Amino acid sequence: MSVAGGLPTLEDLEQRLGGLDGRRILVRCDFNVPLREGADGQHEIGDDLRIRAALPTLRWLTERGAAVTACSHLGRPGGTPDERFTLTPVAGRLSELAPGVALAQNLRFSPGEVANDPAFVDALVKGGPGAPFATSPSGLAPFDGYVNDAFGASHRSHASIVGPPQRLPSAAGRLLHREAEVLGGLRTDAKRPFVAVLGGAKVSDKLGVVEALLSVVDTLVIGGGMCFTFLAALGHPIGESLCEPDFIETCTRLMGSGANIVLPADITALDAGGTVRQMGRSLPDGFRGLDIGPGSAAEFDDVIARARTVFWNGPMGLFEDERFAAGTRAVAQSMADSRAFTVVGGGDSAAAVAQFGIAPYMDHISTGGGAGLEFIEHGDLPGLAALRDSPHQ
Ligand code: 3PG
Repeated sequence: MSVAGGLPTLEDLEQRLGGLDGRRILVRCDFNVPLREGADGQHEIGDDLRIRAALPTLRWLTERGAAVTACSHLGRPGGTPDERFTLTPVAGRLSELAPGVALAQNLRFSPGEVANDPAFVDALVKGGPGAPFATSPSGLAPFDGYVNDAFGASHRSHASIVGPPQRLPSAAGRLLHREAEVLGGLRTDAKRPFVAVLGGAKVSDKLGVVEALLSVVDTLVIGGGMCFTFLAALGHPIGESLCEPDFIETCTRLMGSGANIVLPADITALDAGGTVRQMGRSLPDGFRGLDIGPGSAAEFDDVIARARTVFWNGPMGLFEDERFAAGTRAVAQSMADSRAFTVVGGGDSAAAVAQFGIAPYMDHISTGGGAGLEFIEHGDLPGLAALRDSPHQ
């Protein structure tokens, strides 16, 4: 059975509780959204993707008469209340999108969340005291059921992720289920040719996922800062580009494994005088590679155009700076033009497709950054295992 197939669904929960009308349901969401300072100096939401992604679950539950309380973390406040990490801006947006759904305060304002303290789990499922429900109209009474829809946090063995399924009838929300189905399916059922495009700054951050992908993809395309450690392993001078010398040997091993790894053939670099230059693969001293070049973008486009499944995680360059955005934009456009099943890993690549306005052309944009990579690497996550192992099914 697939990982998604083994998860209890919302329908299972409805059946288990004999209907949802009037039932109190706690929904763990990942509302860890980017915040920015608004004109009035208050925090406002930079991108509400993670809130919108939870709506199918929240609406399904409320339409059936459930009294829903959502809960989430935001940032890493370190176990103590901190105004900079308040969920108040999220509560405002949520009340527009899902009226009637209550929102608890940031779970990480309590040290029990990250520590997975059983006392905190008890307080959570009983609705307080000790749980963050002081401002929640439906707080202060025990919950009847629990739903995990926080894919982006399901790699954390935190109290709100792994605790409630031990105590309450539980289910995977729509978002969690879809993420498990799509990302889990990449490991087992991807249509071929299957191409993965990886970027981002460091090889060390992605080593596990590179190894896991190499065993399932037909071609692995590598750009972004991490490509320079691979180019250095091939013996190219890389100037002042990002490099992790401790991983050169690993890159040499990966490239010698017979896997089909495609590296950029040209690079967009900044020279010592601050001028942007198009270069080949070799960069002299004083040059810093900050994007793949146009030739590489065309070659990557060819590979993507031939694929039937494409997974993309990590930008091809410093795309926040327009001078180095072309490579990332080109890969995003190739994905949008492709007939393949296209999956974008969360974090920076999801932000890039949103920035370039092509999000609607992707088949799946994951809400999980680290969670998505860990899931592809290990094929399971603590939050998914907790739901499967719940004794209350
Ligand atoms: C994320 O943004 O990747 C998730 O919300 C998890 O956040 P964390 O890395 O602080 O646990």
